[in-house]
Amino acid sequence: MIDGKKVLFSGMQATGNLTLGNYLGALNNWITLSDEYECFYSVVDLHSITVRQEPSELRKRARNLLTLYIAAGLDPEKNCIYYQSHVSGHAELSWILNCFTYMGELNRMTQFKDKAAKHADNINAGLFTYPVLMASDILLYQADVVPVGVDQMQHLEITRDIAQRFNAIYGDVFTVPEAYFGKAGRKIMSLQNPEKKMSKSDENVNASIYLMDDTDTVIRKFKRAVTDSEGQIAYRDEQPGIKNLLDIYCACTNKEPEEAVNEFSGKGYGELKMAVGETVANVLAPVQTRFAELSKDKQYIDGVIKNNAQKANYYAAKTLRKVQRKVGFPDRIR
Ligand code: TYM
Repeated sequence: MIDGKKVLFSGMQATGNLTLGNYLGALNNWITLSDEYECFYSVVDLHSITVRQEPSELRKRARNLLTLYIAAGLDPEKNCIYYQSHVSGHAELSWILNCFTYMGELNRMTQFKDKAAKHADNINAGLFTYPVLMASDILLYQADVVPVGVDQMQHLEITRDIAQRFNAIYGDVFTVPEAYFGKAGRKIMSLQNPEKKMSKSDENVNASIYLMDDTDTVIRKFKRAVTDSEGQIAYRDEQPGIKNLLDIYCACTNKEPEEAVNEFSGKGYGELKMAVGETVANVLAPVQTRFAELSKDKQYIDGVIKNNAQKANYYAAKTLRKVQRKVGFPDRIR
């Protein structure tokens, strides 16, 4: 609790171009929840270097992501929007929690297996302990709730396990967090292969809608979306392409799937694709305009970075000192 409010933590990596999946699975829910909770939204740059990065490119993307959080509608006066690397507590807690996490647990992480397969020439220890750093992010702020897409579910479970294990030894140190998944949009699929998650790292640019895609591009990609030959618009697993389009539509409009199905009943796939494309383009356009404006205001963004890093450090230090004391590190002499 901070000032009587429950705490929310979430983060995104500044690697690759953000997709509609990131927006609908996470960012959109962040905005909905931001009034109710005391929120920490991090640009998780420490996580990014588990895969080799071009330094100047990473710096640029990190700043763009932080700016995008604000452009999407998060008020940096009310929400703590900051770079993970500006708060050393993440790495410090991560070391401690590494000592409370088992190799066997980390070995089961599907994201590690996927990433190790993709980056076979660089299976570094950071990639392996990535979930511990993620647990540290969340536990450092005593978060009650963590809004994410379902691909992060396993990481949330291990976070809960680590917190409970630590608490069982040392007493109630950490709040045990709950994952929050939005109704629609929790798993947006590729437009080219609806059995696969929409991902920033997809090599086929038509598979993903990027948040910076202009209206024509968005509509063109939806027009090309892979569907099926059933010829009827229904919300069911047997028609994953159509289901995905309906999910995207519902996540953008806050409608229920049944409502959307009724709206499109008797219509062709072409009409559905066009309607979803236009809806998405209308969601993205104002974010892009605001992003372009904010990007020009260096002083304002610098101010946000500075002030929010201070705020994040303050809360991080509180938890970290408590944890250090519990595990037996000597008190500091002032
Ligand atoms: P990342 O950067 O891969 O993704 C950011 C957020 O977007 C969600 N997401 C999706 N949701 C629905 N459909 C999709 N196709 C889709 N693709 C991505 C992700 O679930 C995520 O919520 N490890 C995390 C970042 C992280 C974090 C944290 C998150 C680090 N520490 C602490 C929460 C709490 C990651 O790489 O997300």
